[in-house]
Amino acid sequence: MSIDHPNFGKLADDRVIIFDTTLRDGEQSPGFSMNLQEKLRMAEALTELGVDVMEAGFPIASPGDFESVKAIAELYAQGGPVICGLARTGRDDILRAAEAVKPAQRKRIHIFLSTSPLHMKYKLRMEPEQVLELTVNSVTLARQHADDVEWSAEDGSRTEPDFLCRCVEAAIAHGATTINIPDTVGYALPEDMERIFTMLRNRVPGAEKVIFSTHNHNDLGLAVANTIAAIRAGARQVECTINGIGERAGNAALEEIVMAIRTRPDSVPCKPAIATQNILKTSKLLSTITGFDVQPNKAIVGRNAFAHESGIHQDGVLKNAATYEIMTPESVGWTKSNLVMGKHSGRAAFRDKLRALGYGEIGDNKLNDAFRRFKDLADRKKAVYDEDISALVDDEVMRDNN
Ligand code: KIV
Ligand code: ZN
Repeated sequence: MSIDHPNFGKLADDRVIIFDTTLRDGEQSPGFSMNLQEKLRMAEALTELGVDVMEAGFPIASPGDFESVKAIAELYAQGGPVICGLARTGRDDILRAAEAVKPAQRKRIHIFLSTSPLHMKYKLRMEPEQVLELTVNSVTLARQHADDVEWSAEDGSRTEPDFLCRCVEAAIAHGATTINIPDTVGYALPEDMERIFTMLRNRVPGAEKVIFSTHNHNDLGLAVANTIAAIRAGARQVECTINGIGERAGNAALEEIVMAIRTRPDSVPCKPAIATQNILKTSKLLSTITGFDVQPNKAIVGRNAFAHESGIHQDGVLKNAATYEIMTPESVGWTKSNLVMGKHSGRAAFRDKLRALGYGEIGDNKLNDAFRRFKDLADRKKAVYDEDISALVDDEVMRDNN
């Protein structure tokens, strides 16, 4: 690849750009809107995490959105991540986005336009030739205000291939520097992604000059798998959100993409530059700000992501954590694996828990009695807390003394 990108210079072949859209697509999920102060706090956390591009909002959407994109751009006037503002193809949209991102040292205008037959007919009520003309005009205008312009084919995954190639060619010819193909409705399968990106890279004149980007929604639970497939087919920018928040079922989750690549480095020819140890705290900050916790079994950041209840697993983890953990909890910001005491827990974990609670070494008889009583309790209670275990062992000791 010989891409010479206005904001990234010569992009190393083995780098994938992390484009975070928590503050734009993420914020579009019902109930997840954030005020200016909250967006600024999130922006700082995303910067500490190491995202390359931050889509800070959709400036024409409301005065508040404009103000927050501008405030974030001001925060990065001396450098930092690329600050991006979203725009439709209209002049007002583009000028508003340009004004909002202007203070940032590194800035981008992101234009999107539907290209699928369904969207063109019912949403835009336009003929394909009009869509092509709008592509040319909007990219041309945006380039007068920013060197870095991203063009997105909304509903790209359901777009007729020849037409998609023509649109992408036109966008590149008029100065787009990143070409994004969203799976707007989360309809695609990984093989669709491979086919689309391979086709664009092979067929479109000028394809070698731009960065291809993938943007996947999670309606079928395939957003991360589709993202990985797109990278394998040549995409070098991935669009994602913290905790996978976003329209409907959400966007591809940043933490899952990053850790999939880190855990399976041979699966893709490139890697992101993310400080993974900051993942958990960024996820928690977002939950605190929005008031929405992730589900307990959420990969990487869910309360149970590194929790083990079954005796067999607990025993394995105590002997060597790699038996049941494919990454270390510390690598994403957890302090350690969590052996949860419940009815499936085994004697080894129980003994370990007693040591952790300060009971030292307990004789086998006493351990067996306490363990039996613990199992009875665990059958009655959903979760057995440290206090329950202490009470039970203390009671055992009392009995012995009487
Ligand atoms: O899902 C989508 O198509 C989008 C575009 C605005 C990029 O979010
Ligand atoms: Zn989207």
